[in-house]
This record gives sequence, structure tokens and C-alpha cells, in this order.
Amino acid sequence: MSASTSESTSTAPATTSSTNAGLIWFDGRIVPEAEATVSVLTHAMHYGTSVFEGIRAYESDRGAAVFRLHEHSVRLLESAKILGMKTTWTAEQIDQAIVDTIKANERVSCYIRPLIWYGAESLGVNPGRNTLHLMVATLPWGIYLGDDAVRKGAALMTSSWRRSSGDIMPTKAKAGGNYVNSVLANAEARDNGFDEALLLDKEGYVAEGSGENIFFLKGDTLYALAHSVNLRGITRDTVIQLARDMGTRVEATMATRDELYTADEVFMVGTAAEVTPIASIDRRPIGPGVAGPFGLAMRERYLEVVSGKVAAYHDWLTFVHD
Ligand SMILES: Cc1ncc(COP(=O)(O)O)c(C=O)c1O
Repeated sequence: MSASTSESTSTAPATTSSTNAGLIWFDGRIVPEAEATVSVLTHAMHYGTSVFEGIRAYESDRGAAVFRLHEHSVRLLESAKILGMKTTWTAEQIDQAIVDTIKANERVSCYIRPLIWYGAESLGVNPGRNTLHLMVATLPWGIYLGDDAVRKGAALMTSSWRRSSGDIMPTKAKAGGNYVNSVLANAEARDNGFDEALLLDKEGYVAEGSGENIFFLKGDTLYALAHSVNLRGITRDTVIQLARDMGTRVEATMATRDELYTADEVFMVGTAAEVTPIASIDRRPIGPGVAGPFGLAMRERYLEVVSGKVAAYHDWLTFVHD
């Protein structure tokens, strides 16, 4: 498989990296990270015209297993379609590129980052003449928000940055440019001593974290925050199904931040954050102010499922070495 057209090979000197990405799938070839380089005039670098995915592979009894791989590849292509990118790859080809990259790096578990972007042929805003490129990187990654945040529960801060509305940015696309909003919100929260940001939408309803969907528990019902401007999270969908299979009633709802303050439990979910319980929001304790039992049980269940310990959910896994 190859990109629709490829950029000229860079002659830039090899650079060092702290990401330990090893071998990268780059327009159909597997090359060392230092050789996976692009021009400084790359359109995506100037205007955020890229789309990407975040996927995880987990160690299982049958070796590396990618969680809900095909859904991620499909969403990647949907993001590209939203941006008007005329891609020629199929979701199956992207699945295969990801499997090949994991194998080439001999990963047993990793975070996977496929990216499609416009190249460097033209610097005008209109990317009509720019070729499309695809790369897949695999990174050794552990617990996204840190061990402490997971055990004790994370501290959230309502961000002064609002989530864009769908008439300003295509919020259902994982587009590079959209993530300036997440970067700013996360940095603001971190700079103020919190673990993560909670973003509201334009109307003041809670939207999501910088890279996570939000759930809250009140009484015996688990509430999944409704889509509105949020990303249609694959972990959100997974947690809804797991909760229902555990006999919990689940409803989708809009919620304001005060409704979250008074919930029994709040937790965040996402491919990177997995299931992370929330101990406080804006310094108000959620419930007793520690990671709640439901969130912790859901985290445990999720980790069992993604690592192939529950046969009933094996359809969600792509065993790389099968
Ligand atoms: C803004 C945003 N919301 C939610 C999520 C969670 O989505 P998923 O569970 O598909 O990783 C992500 C991560 O991709 C995200 O970037």
C-alpha cells in the first residue's frame, strides 16, 4: 500500500527523539523514526490539516491485541472525509498497516498513532494541490494521567476554554487543528495544579475532557454525557456496553457542571485515559472525594476486557499474531 502521491525524500539529518517510536509505517514503507521526516512547509504543520487516531494494544495470552482496531480505522477515515480529504486507503488497509507496525517493532503493548496529513506542495490555505500522506507510529505508553490519579482519583478543573461548537470546528473529527483547544485546556489545568481539564460547550453544558468522555453515577443510574459537540468515543461506547452487561441502567444526558459536583461518582474514559475515576472537580470533592467503587470496578473490568481475559468480548480484539 502506498500514499496517493509521495513527498520527495527528506535529506534532513537524523534527529533524536524521546518518544521511542522505533520503526514507523510511513507512506507504505517501514522506516526508522529518524527517517520518517517531512518538509517544514507541510500544510498540516501550518494549518492543522491532519486527522489522527489514538488506539491501544494490550498484552494478552495470545500476544499483542489491539482494542477495537477497525472502529478506529473507520473513524480515522470519517475524520478525513469531514475535512474533505480525498483519501484512497481503505479501513482494512489501515488495520493492516497498524498490525504490520506493531509486528515490526515487536510490541506486546503500546499506544498507536495513525495520522493522515496534507503535504508540502502548496502553502495556500486551500489544500487542493497537496498530496495526502499516512503514517503509523507505536509508542510504549503506560497510565496516561499517572498511577496516582487513577488510584486516588483525578482532580479536574473547569476550563476557561470552551469546546468549539460544531458550526465553528468539526468537533466529530479528530483533526489536528481541533486539538489546540485541548492543548490549551489541559495546560491551563496542569499549570493550576489539576490533573485534567473539564470543558463546557458554548451553552454551558459539560462537554468532555481534553481527550476523554465523561460519565457520572447518581443513585443506581450511570449517565453518559450526550454527544452534543463531543467526540463519539469508542471507550464511551465500550463502557456503556460493559455497564449494561453488568446490570447497570445507563442513560445518555446533558449535564451542567453543578450536576457533576453533586454526583455520587464521576469518571473519565478514553483510549489514553482508559477509565479514570475523578476525586474532585473545581476543588469540590465528588462523593467522599476519593476514587469511587463503581469507577474502580469499571476500570478493572475494562482492563480485563482489553487484555483478552473475557472471552465474551474477544470480538473487540485483533490478535496481532493470529
Ligand atoms: C476530545 C476527545 N474526546 C473523547 C475522546 C475519547 O475517545 P476514544 O474513547 O475513542 O479514545 C478522545 C480521544 O480520542 C478525545 O480526543
